Amino acid sequence: MNGPKVAVVLGSDSDLPVIREMLDLLKEFDVAYEVTISSAHRSPARTHHYAVELEARGVQVVIACAGAAAHLAGVIAAETILPVIGVPIDSSPLQGLDALLSTSMMPAGIPVATMGIGKMGAANAAVLAAQILARGDAALAERLRAYKRKLADRVEQKDLELQKALDA
Ligand code: RP5
Repeated sequence: MNGPKVAVVLGSDSDLPVIREMLDLLKEFDVAYEVTISSAHRSPARTHHYAVELEARGVQVVIACAGAAAHLAGVIAAETILPVIGVPIDSSPLQGLDALLSTSMMPAGIPVATMGIGKMGAANAAVLAAQILARGDAALAERLRAYKRKLADRVEQKDLELQKALDA
């Protein structure tokens, strides 16, 4: 199937700025994705219908991003056997701690692979989704290796700059 392999679900359009780097990374890895807004609390029927149809549409990994009392990832995980990655969004007065706990503390049998809070976790969700897909895609695995090399090169470059600044 040629459709999206990763389904990104947001609890609100207000979550969009937090997940920009996630989308950039999925593009960099050449992973086909879709982005949908659906709320576990405000549109439960829409979320249910979306979740139960994911597998038949050829989606392989779900990334569910929500803030506050975030049940989006857990509700989707309850409706599918696809791996669900949860991203707690720092949109509430508790700055994502509420979402971290409600996304991660799932009862046994319904796992949500929960990332860190906010932008950092959102970026990691893209990398983890790509790593899952790369088990069956050698070219994607190579792109992930190149990404890791780039991260390591960046650290070395920063160290070179630091040493130069210290010597000056
Ligand atoms: C959650 O409530 C959303 O994921 C968002 O992080 C938070 C606030 O939503 P809005 O009131 O900005 O739509 O469901």
